[in-house]
Amino acid sequence: PDQRQSWKERAKALLAKHQAVLVAHYYVDGDLQDLALESGGCVADSLEMARFGRDHAAKTLVVAGVRFMGESAKILSPDKRVLMPDLDATCSLDLGCPADDFARFCDAHPDRKVVVYANTSAAVKARADWMVTSSCALAIVKHLKDQGEKILWAPDRHLGRYIQQQTHADMLMWNGACIVHDEFKGLELDLLKSQHPGAMVLVHPESPESVVKQADVVGSTSQLLNAVVQGNAPAYIVATDNGILHRMRQLAPGKTLIEAPTAGNSATCKSCAHCPWMAMNALQGVVSCLESGTGEIHVEEPIRSQALGCIERMLDFVK
Ligand code: 13P
Ligand code: SF4
Repeated sequence: PDQRQSWKERAKALLAKHQAVLVAHYYVDGDLQDLALESGGCVADSLEMARFGRDHAAKTLVVAGVRFMGESAKILSPDKRVLMPDLDATCSLDLGCPADDFARFCDAHPDRKVVVYANTSAAVKARADWMVTSSCALAIVKHLKDQGEKILWAPDRHLGRYIQQQTHADMLMWNGACIVHDEFKGLELDLLKSQHPGAMVLVHPESPESVVKQADVVGSTSQLLNAVVQGNAPAYIVATDNGILHRMRQLAPGKTLIEAPTAGNSATCKSCAHCPWMAMNALQGVVSCLESGTGEIHVEEPIRSQALGCIERMLDFVK
């Protein structure tokens, strides 16, 4: 604990020295989340991270999360320096949707509006008409459907299916998945619910259908957090990366939080629902990127300006 404290103090001093701000996601290590809040940064979902970074006056953004979050920050703020504690922190959705294959998919369906999830590379966004995050995907697809548009959706098949079921939009889908949420299990969740009568079930929409269909609330990480803070249930079963429990415990002390079951965690593994790439973010990484300027995100032109359009369209929509 003492060592952690000293890394945190070093990171805090470096943030101040470089006029930098830490923009963190709920899934990263709790120390990093605390550091972000103690130093004037934010802990947020992907949509709020993008907005916070764009609007903040800092010269340098340190993005603690995964690669696409750093890229979105850079696309929105090309004049800011954007650093990440570990540039290898990626996402299975991003990895599963290579830009060349995706371009061919788009070329084959020119009659469709291209809607991509935030969890994609800048090159994929450069081909898209709209970017969406889990917090606004439903509203944006509904809007497009009302305008009579047919949609090409990528890459998360579970989020896509959930939105398709809710909106009945015509959606052609890429077959991607999040390796963390894909592991939540409907049958085991059903059993767990019977052991906790009255518990509220909170589910991130990257989860399989058998899990989403048992949800009381389906939403982005921030929306699930708000459901715990505002809810009056005796307990909450949380089907998303367990990194979020840190902030849930801080904002809703005393409430009972239970991790939703994955394939391996019923009896043995207690931390299966944790993103290996989010876990690459550490206090030491914040210190080293600020000290030595490593981990800088670059998004080349014309990819950056092409990708900007779909992000701005979303930000204008949610204003
Ligand atoms: P949110 O936008 O809901 O925070 O989701 C990001 C993510 O990577 C979920 O796995
Ligand atoms: Fe990607 Fe899943 Fe990790 Fe989120 S939790 S960053 S969707 S692999």
